[in-house]
Amino acid sequence: MRIGVLIFAKPEEDVASGIERLEKAGREAGHEIVRLYETTLSIYSPPNVGGVSAKGGSASGGRGGTGVEVRLDEQPIGPFDALIARPNFIEEPSLHTPLLEALEQNGYRVLNRAAPITIAKNKLLQHVRFQKSGIPMPRWAIVHTVKEARRASALLGFPLIAKVAFGTWGAGVFYAENLETLQPIMHYLQVRDGNPVILETFIEEANRTDLRVFVVGGKIIAAMERKARPGDVRANTSIGGEGHTAQLTKDEERVALDAAHVSELDIAGVDILRSKQGPLVIEVNANPGFAELERVTGVNIAKTIIEFAISGH
Ligand SMILES: Nc1ncnc2c1ncn2[C@@H]1O[C@H](COP(=O)(O)OP(=O)(O)OP(=O)(O)O)[C@@H](O)[C@H]1O
Ligand SMILES: [Mg+2]
Repeated sequence: MRIGVLIFAKPEEDVASGIERLEKAGREAGHEIVRLYETTLSIYSPPNVGGVSAKGGSASGGRGGTGVEVRLDEQPIGPFDALIARPNFIEEPSLHTPLLEALEQNGYRVLNRAAPITIAKNKLLQHVRFQKSGIPMPRWAIVHTVKEARRASALLGFPLIAKVAFGTWGAGVFYAENLETLQPIMHYLQVRDGNPVILETFIEEANRTDLRVFVVGGKIIAAMERKARPGDVRANTSIGGEGHTAQLTKDEERVALDAAHVSELDIAGVDILRSKQGPLVIEVNANPGFAELERVTGVNIAKTIIEFAISGH
């Protein structure tokens, strides 16, 4: 089978996490793995025929399709049995997801798809969606100004966590113990771009530890506990958090599967905090790394992703 890995970077830049693992696992299973870099791909509309866009994506190499064509060096990208996207960007996701949308229009099997990535990469949108679907989360508010933040903090209580919409690897997550620490953070964010900020109750009893549950195609394939390094509240392994084996309760499994299901992501990294009220979801990642998870659990995550990507062929 021919599988593409979509990387949202320039070819000369550092590659996104997991690419080499996916290449190795794919090759071991006898597949051809091709790197596709977003910055080298162009999207073309079809020529107009009598004022109407021509239909059919035969030149695209996709199965069926509606006419837009994704080209690499002026050539159609050719047939792929699956395209695995590693959306490693931190900007507004809708700048990047049109490429995935175009590939989907061409009939390619794309994981994760454009629409769920657009939501998952925007913490604001994801919070609002999860609330509607009854996914348990820490109590939160979305605010813009120092004044609104003061009001929200009176409701949420301290300590609390402030989060920007497009953070990553823990960058964009701030811990505020009281008004004296929250106000300057909010003031800076307000001056920097004025974008909305999420304020969230800090779950103290989670003990600076969260659960990372890896869900592929609606099944939990591995999970671990991550403990923040001393001096930090953020458990992300990319900033020194350490992974440990974890046994999930039935409740935690159900919440993780529900969150992955609601997010409509085929490949999902669900972050959960163990709280007095039971498991609380803090986010679901559309581009979850898996190096630490493979190390801790011994599960071949890359192989599982490849197998799921080509399932149905
Ligand atoms: N409400 C909270 N209470 C306690 N700890 C939290 C809370 N929210 C976040 N954290 C800690 O901060 C870490 C990072 O938060 P979060 O997962 O929301 O953002 P992120 O990992 O930076 O985002 P992304 O995955 O999009 O890069 C979590 O893994 C957790 O350890
Ligand atoms: Mg996270």
